[in-house]
Amino acid sequence: MRLYRAKNYEDMSIKAASILAAQIVTDPNSVLGLATGSTPELMYRNLVEWYKKGYLDFSGVSTYNLDEYRGISGTNEQSYYAYMMKNLFSKVNIKEENTHIPDGFQEDTRKVCKEYEDAICQAGGIELQILGIGNNGHIGFNEPSDSFLEDCHCVNLAESTIQANKRFFEKEEDVPKQAYTMGVGTIMRAKKILLLASGKAKADAVEKLLNGPVTPQIPASILRLHPDVTIIADEEALVNVEEMKI
Ligand code: GLP
Repeated sequence: MRLYRAKNYEDMSIKAASILAAQIVTDPNSVLGLATGSTPELMYRNLVEWYKKGYLDFSGVSTYNLDEYRGISGTNEQSYYAYMMKNLFSKVNIKEENTHIPDGFQEDTRKVCKEYEDAICQAGGIELQILGIGNNGHIGFNEPSDSFLEDCHCVNLAESTIQANKRFFEKEEDVPKQAYTMGVGTIMRAKKILLLASGKAKADAVEKLLNGPVTPQIPASILRLHPDVTIIADEEALVNVEEMKI
C-alpha cells in the first residue's frame, strides 16, 4: 500500500487525475471503476480540462461505477448517473455504451446485481478502481457490518451515511434508504485501486484503514490485503496518522 500525502484538496485532485490520466494514456482501452461524492469532483474537472486541451482520449475507455441509490432514476439530479453525466461523461468523448452504472430504478435486486457483476467480468475486470471513503469507513456503499459481502448487492444505508449525504438533497426524507453497490469482492478483484480522502471528517476512517485491524466494521480496512493500493489523502484527512515514508 502506498500513501501519498497531499497538501490540500487541490493537490490531492491533481495527483489523482495524473494517475488516472497515466492509466488512460498507457492503455487507451482501460476499464475503469469510478466513484462519486464530493471527493473526486475536482479530479474529474482536471480530467475534463486535460481532455479539452487534447491530452486525453476517452474513446476506448470503459467505466463501471461503484454504486447507485436504489429507487431513483437517472433523471433525478441526485442519482449517481446524473452526477457522472454532469462531472465527466457529457464533457469528454467517452462512448455512452461504454459507461455503466447499476440501474437504480430497476427493482429486481438479483437481476441488477447479477447483470452488473457479469458485465464487469465480461469486460475482463477493472484495471483501476477509484474509491472515496465514507466517514464510517465505507467503500462504495459497503457499510460497516459483521461480514464482508463479496459481490454486487443491495444495501440498507447506515444512519451515519444518510446523515452525511443529506447535504445533497433538499430534505432528509428525500435521501434514499437503499443502494446498489459493488461488493467488497468486486472492488478487491480490481487490479489497481486508488483511494482518495480529503478533510477532517475522514481522519478517523483513514487512521483506522491504515492502522486498525482488518474488519468488516471498517470496510475500507480490507484494502490492506490488496497487492496494489494507492492512497492519496490530504493533511486534514491525515491528522491522526503520523508521518510515514512513502
Ligand atoms: C458516498 C458514496 C461513496 C463515497 C463516499 C464519500 O456515500 N457511496 O462511494 O466515496 O460516500 O463521499 P464524499 O466524497 O462525498 O465524502
